[in-house]
Formats: sequence, C-alpha cells, structure tokens
Amino acid sequence: MALPLLLVPSDPLAPRVPDPHFAREADAARQAGMDVAVVDHDAIIAGDIRAAVRRVPTSNVGRTAWYRGWMIHTPTYALLATGLQTRGARLLTDPTMYQAAHELPGWYDAFADLTPTSIWSPWEANRTPKHADVAAWACKLGGGPALVKDYVKSRKHEWHEACFIPDLADAPAATRVIATMIKLQDADLNGGIVVRRFEPFLPDDAGRTREARAWWVEGSLALITPHPDAPAGTTVNVPAAILDAVRSGVHALGSPFVTTDLAQRSDGVWRVIEVGDGQVSDLPATQDPAPLTQALSAGPPTTRHESRS
Ligand SMILES: Nc1ncnc2c1ncn2[C@@H]1O[C@H](COP(=O)(O)OP(=O)(O)OP(=O)(O)O)[C@@H](O)[C@H]1O
Ligand SMILES: [Mg+2]
Repeated sequence: MALPLLLVPSDPLAPRVPDPHFAREADAARQAGMDVAVVDHDAIIAGDIRAAVRRVPTSNVGRTAWYRGWMIHTPTYALLATGLQTRGARLLTDPTMYQAAHELPGWYDAFADLTPTSIWSPWEANRTPKHADVAAWACKLGGGPALVKDYVKSRKHEWHEACFIPDLADAPAATRVIATMIKLQDADLNGGIVVRRFEPFLPDDAGRTREARAWWVEGSLALITPHPDAPAGTTVNVPAAILDAVRSGVHALGSPFVTTDLAQRSDGVWRVIEVGDGQVSDLPATQDPAPLTQALSAGPPTTRHESRS
C-alpha cells in the first residue's frame, strides 16, 4: 500500500522542484518514505487548475494526498481537489473539512469554551459597514474592547487602525476600524467579518502574544512549535491538561490535519487563539519538520481497492 503523497507548491523559478519555503518539508517527507509532487500555486489562484496539477503523476489512481502550501480560499481549495481527482489523487482533507478548520465560523463551535467569544457575518469585499451594522454587532457581543478580522486573517500589523477596537459600543470609532480592515483586505477579504471579545494575553519580551502552535494529525498531537512569528529560540510549554481539552475540540471538529494556536491569558487561563487547517499553517523556519512529516506519512494510505498497482 502506498503512503499518502505530499503535494507542495513548485518553485516559481524552477517549476519542477519544490518552492524553497517547503523544500525542507519535501526532503523530510521523502525520508519518511512519501512521494512528493509539486503543484503550481500561481496557476491555482489564477483558477487554471489543469495547469496547476499537471506535474502530479497519474500512476496511482485513488492515491491519498496531503497538501502543504500557501493559504488558499475555500472555493479554490475545492477546485484543487477536483483537479487532483483528474490525476487520480484524493486529498485526505476534503473541501468541507478544509473550510471547517480554516475559517472561524467552521471551527468556533468545537472550541467555544476555549476561545474568545465571537460573532461573524458574511461580507462582500469592499462593502463599507454602516454604524447600524456595528451597533447590531455590539448588541450581540456587548460593549468593551474587541478585535476584528475576516474569517481567516487579521490585520494585526495595523493593530490600532484595522484590528483592535477599544470599545465596540462606540459605534463611530468601531466602524472606522472595521471599515479600515475591510479596505485593506480589499479583494482578499476571506468569507466575512469576525468580531471577537478582546482578552488580555501574556506578552513575550517584544510585547507580542506568546503563542504555541499545536499540530494535530488524525486527532493525535504530532508536534508543538512556537508561532512562526515568534523570535528564533522561543520555547513553548503547554500543560498536558490543556492539550487534553484542545484534543477534544479537535476530535469534535473532525478535520484530519489541524493546528491550534494557544496562549495564556494574563489570569493564567490557557485559550485557543485560532484554529487552522494544518495544510496551510506555517512551520517556524528553524523547526525540524521530521515529526510532522512522519505523522503525515502514517495518515490513511491508499487502499488496495483504490490503487491501480
Ligand atoms: N480575542 C483576542 N483578544 C486579544 N488578542 C487577540 C485576540 N484574538 C487575537 N488576538 C491577538 O491578535 C493576533 C492576531 O490574531 P489571529 O491569530 O486571530 O490573526 P491572524 O491574522 O490569523 O494571525 P496569524 O495567521 O499570523 O496567526 C494574535 O496573535 C493575538 O496577539
Ligand atoms: Mg494567529
């Protein structure tokens, strides 16, 4: 039985080989016995899926596959899944599961007790919110400090302009922050708007939230890393009881490859800051990818029934 295939983006300058950002993972996957194939990320986002998957070998019909690559919107992931089927490969994370882990409305219920209270609303790119929209969100969530993001990403680097809302009950000021987030996200606005209650987290030496990223493959913990934005050398230590609680959320979500970003609040309570689809979560540059690729290689193999050979 063949191990799952690993798909990574190709190097835009050398289309037969992995993008340098994923080269170490591709090497580690080969060492774990997996075959590696490249997909063309530019062609994926351009919607030219035939071109995107043309370097995926067709020899193993029904072969299972993991993707490790750049973030893509859910409809694009669905196109990729269909394109891969034409090459005989089946993504182990189907598009429904991808959406569930990638977008906050998909994962929120499974982690509701562990993550800041949030509300969301589908929203068109570049549609400006009105005070009345924001007042309605304040009604649901309550006033006080809050944070805005889209279903997937925040503008955390424009914290005061487009991310942090000092008081959601101050509709004019909150509307300005939310409108700026929408404007800056432009056509990349992913799904809609999320407004979350702000919770104070313990900072690292540079004042950033100290976050640990736990990687879950088929419901089991494969690896814990610092958040990829943390300075090199950051160490993380998450209590086992917290990991047990998070594992329950991962099982409830049901997606086969998930990351959970965890941080300790200033009152000491551990929280889930966000959940992601593991296929598009970044690994810190200095992290040995072997524990992750080993866990992925043990994922459901291609069955005899599915395999042509
Ligand atoms: N509810 C919250 N209360 C306080 N701070 C928060 C909250 N949610 C997020 N943050 C802070 O904002 C940062 C960005 O939030 P989040 O991780 O949700 O966005 P992101 O853009 O998806 O980030 P990335 O993909 O880089 O991890 C977090 O690292 C954390 O410091
Ligand atoms: Mg984050």
